[in-house]
Amino acid sequence: MSIKIAGTGSYIPERILTNADLEKMVDTNDEWIRTRTGISERHLAAPDQVTSDLGAEACRKALEAAGVDASEVGAVIVATCTPDYTFPSTAANIHRKLQLNKAFCFDLSAACCGFLSVLETACGIMMANKKYRYVLAVGAEKLSTIVNWDDRSTCILFGDGAGAVLLENVDDGDNTGLIASDMNTDGNWSEILKLPGGGSVNPPSERTIAEHLHGIHMQGQETFKLAVNAIVSACRTVESEAGISIRDDVKLVIPHQANIRIIQAVAKRLDITDEQVIVNINRYGNTSAASIAICFDEAVRTGRLQRGDLALLASFGSGLVWGAQLIRY
Ligand code: ACO
Repeated sequence: MSIKIAGTGSYIPERILTNADLEKMVDTNDEWIRTRTGISERHLAAPDQVTSDLGAEACRKALEAAGVDASEVGAVIVATCTPDYTFPSTAANIHRKLQLNKAFCFDLSAACCGFLSVLETACGIMMANKKYRYVLAVGAEKLSTIVNWDDRSTCILFGDGAGAVLLENVDDGDNTGLIASDMNTDGNWSEILKLPGGGSVNPPSERTIAEHLHGIHMQGQETFKLAVNAIVSACRTVESEAGISIRDDVKLVIPHQANIRIIQAVAKRLDITDEQVIVNINRYGNTSAASIAICFDEAVRTGRLQRGDLALLASFGSGLVWGAQLIRY
């Protein structure tokens, strides 16, 4: 039994916010942003577009690419840290918007590691007993709603978008799907990257609004240092468990798009070529749970990933949660 990636899709909202636009909003400049992060522009959803709209559009494209009808989908898992509501789930709203009438739907929270967490749950648990033939794995974010637009150290980093893959249980024995993975959490670092307001610790109040607790709080340098070591370690664990060489056997490394310098440092430590790494942070910024799903769709649609190729997905985010997954497309 194998799990095939039957189709992929992504959706990026139309409106572009350039570094020049940000120069008019906070004390920053295009050169600082590009050299420190690799970001030139990011896309923002329209006021009336919510996370489930972005996710639904990515799902619709994934179903279209696979030639599968909405009625055949057995489950939808959405990774997001910007859900439509605390409840109902964003996945349930996608269910309604696409009329996925037979689908069991729920959200999952793991910030930037959300999409890998969805794949781990879908491939490792839900599809293992063949109960579900088709599962939509989705990463969708409207991060513009949780960015503090007065904080120059974080507002330059994030963008909105969504990506989806349609997973299919198949019998043909091609050994496709999730080959090996290494997923980790260290809750001792939970303070360095968080959205403090709105939950049970700091329920919404005038104080939480006045203190900007509903925006992203991040210790950037600490996060940066931890990210590189964690990602490389997870990639090496997967390499050894799968008995492959990342440099010689992996067609494409798909890292979370948080900072070009993190991606370059990881690539150097893994001793891989530029052609082996997908980068689109320059156009979209950090789209958290959506970033790897968007990259995966771009890799498929531009032909950088062909059937049978190995892709190494690697991510890191709030929790801290980090991991790597080897996938045969
Ligand atoms: N424009 C101009 N100057 C700025 C800006 C800005 N937008 N932001 C900060 N600065 C200044 C700072 O005030 C500081 O000035 P000072 O030296 O006078 O005090 C100087 O630039 C250096 O600031 P640092 O924070 O040290 O800059 P750094 O090189 O670390 O870059 C960055 C900051 C880009 C945030 C980086 O640390 C980073 O990318 N970290 C990792 C982010 C990440 O991976 N996040 C995980 C995913 S997010 C999630 O899970 C939701």
